[in-house]
Amino acid sequence: MQPGQIIFEGKIKNGLPIVLRYPEANDLKDLLNYINTLSKERTYISFQGQQLTVDEEKKYLDNVLNKMNKNEDIHILAYSQKALIGIANITLRERVETHVGDFGISVAKQFRNQGIGKLLTEKILEEAGKNLFNLKIVTLVVYANNNIAIEMYKNFGFKKYGVLPKGIVHRDKFIDQILMYQNLTF
Ligand SMILES: CC(C)(COP(=O)(O)OP(=O)(O)OC[C@H]1O[C@@H](n2cnc3c(N)ncnc32)[C@H](O)[C@@H]1OP(=O)(O)O)[C@@H](O)C(=O)NCCC(=O)NCCS
Repeated sequence: MQPGQIIFEGKIKNGLPIVLRYPEANDLKDLLNYINTLSKERTYISFQGQQLTVDEEKKYLDNVLNKMNKNEDIHILAYSQKALIGIANITLRERVETHVGDFGISVAKQFRNQGIGKLLTEKILEEAGKNLFNLKIVTLVVYANNNIAIEMYKNFGFKKYGVLPKGIVHRDKFIDQILMYQNLTF
């Protein structure tokens, strides 16, 4: 996996061009802006308004690039007309869980519901199968009220294996946390 390598070029539903590629060191500013915008939205992710600094995001990106170099992580960035509009990742766990990869995904608010989430999910599973040699199980956690994401995950073959009742506080309310998984090779 080469930093910046393009893995897909095409168009989304409204005809806008889309490029999917691996991250590279130059993406720091885009990534920082992306996560801080998503955090402000207080959507169904773990950042709820907190703003990351350049240093914090640089540490994150350095770690991602280092792990990708060792085939322990994949991040795919979706760009359209030079704007970062979505990210998916699968990151292997450590020690006795190196065959388990945690999946995460988000699409920028104004680009949702146009097939980008599906495209990113399809490509991250495909790329992970090829490049994360240890990977056997993909897992994810999702807010129980995130119906769009849960529907999409089910359609990709993810199954619910647990629930942590009231495991998330979102906008001052307790929400159940749903755990899902799929086996890749057994
Ligand atoms: C979840 C998310 C990544 C989906 O991405 P997206 O680009 O909007 O999704 P897509 O347009 O590819 O649609 C994928 C599937 O989601 C479901 N979906 C999408 N929009 C929907 C809507 N408005 N109502 C119901 N289901 C919807 C459908 O099952 C759809 O598949 P289909 O087109 O075959 O019916 C995106 O909504 C998002 O980033 N949300 C905020 C962050 C988040 O929730 N991340 C996941 C954390 S676990």
